[in-house]
Amino acid sequence: MSYPEDEPFTASVLASFGPAAPVRAKEILTSLIRHLHAVCREVNLTTEELYVGLDALNRAGRMSDAKRNETLLVSDCLGVEALVDEITHKILAEQTSTNTCILGPFYRADAPRYENGDSIIQKYLGGEVTWYHGRILDADSGKPVAGAELNVWECAANGLYDQQDPSQPDGNMRGIFHADEDGRYDFYCIKPIPYPVPYDGPAGDILKLMDRSPFRAAHIHFMVESETHRRLVTQVFPSDDAYLNRDSVYAVKNDLIIRFEPPTPEAMKGRGARGTESGVQWEVNYDFRIKKRPT
Ligand code: BEZ
Ligand code: FE
Repeated sequence: MSYPEDEPFTASVLASFGPAAPVRAKEILTSLIRHLHAVCREVNLTTEELYVGLDALNRAGRMSDAKRNETLLVSDCLGVEALVDEITHKILAEQTSTNTCILGPFYRADAPRYENGDSIIQKYLGGEVTWYHGRILDADSGKPVAGAELNVWECAANGLYDQQDPSQPDGNMRGIFHADEDGRYDFYCIKPIPYPVPYDGPAGDILKLMDRSPFRAAHIHFMVESETHRRLVTQVFPSDDAYLNRDSVYAVKNDLIIRFEPPTPEAMKGRGARGTESGVQWEVNYDFRIKKRPT
């Protein structure tokens, strides 16, 4: 086999960097050029096919805005965000912390702020109400991280996030909570359901070409951080979900699969338990372990 850099044309492109190219950018671009050239040669890519690919990238860019990140979704459907998450987690050697997972395109920093015991369900569209609680702990000492911020988001029972669905109030099914002195947090949500990722753009085209389902395994998203502790981005997956082995964006990790348990009597005590049409049906007790920021 000949390496792409042995080809005179690829070698000339790789040799064309100027002396001021930043080291890391040069490392990444060198590898990208090598691999892109290798792909073109391996599949004998035609100009027409190149334009189809570039058109998909252009459409993804045009579709992306504050409410939709189609380019990230394309990377998700190719397994790239999940792979980069895995690599980043290994580089940071955070084995003692809760495992990370992809951010996905539906995070919002401006989620409503709640007190512990509140519900993130502003408009109930169905679903099995869950009391979700636990502690936020230092990954190494196991001590509580008082005041740590927990941002949680999930789709409603119709499979849509608030920013995708004009019928939902802004901020529905998402919220920001803070750990108390013992590191405890608690809120009400619904047991997550599988839902299809947006299928009407270039990411959907890729899934169709790969003959894959657009459904994500059921999950709840979390971002946990504090002044003293590094940001943890993760998801948890209910153990009884049918899509655990065929998540459309390859994000499921075994140690993030958790059991939703029948509720204890305590589950009815929080403010968020009031007025739930179906009553509280599930309870989760889950601790997050986060790493100190480097000093
Ligand atoms: C999500 O988890 O919300 C998500 C992740 C990747 C692609 C689409 C959706
Ligand atoms: Fe999601």
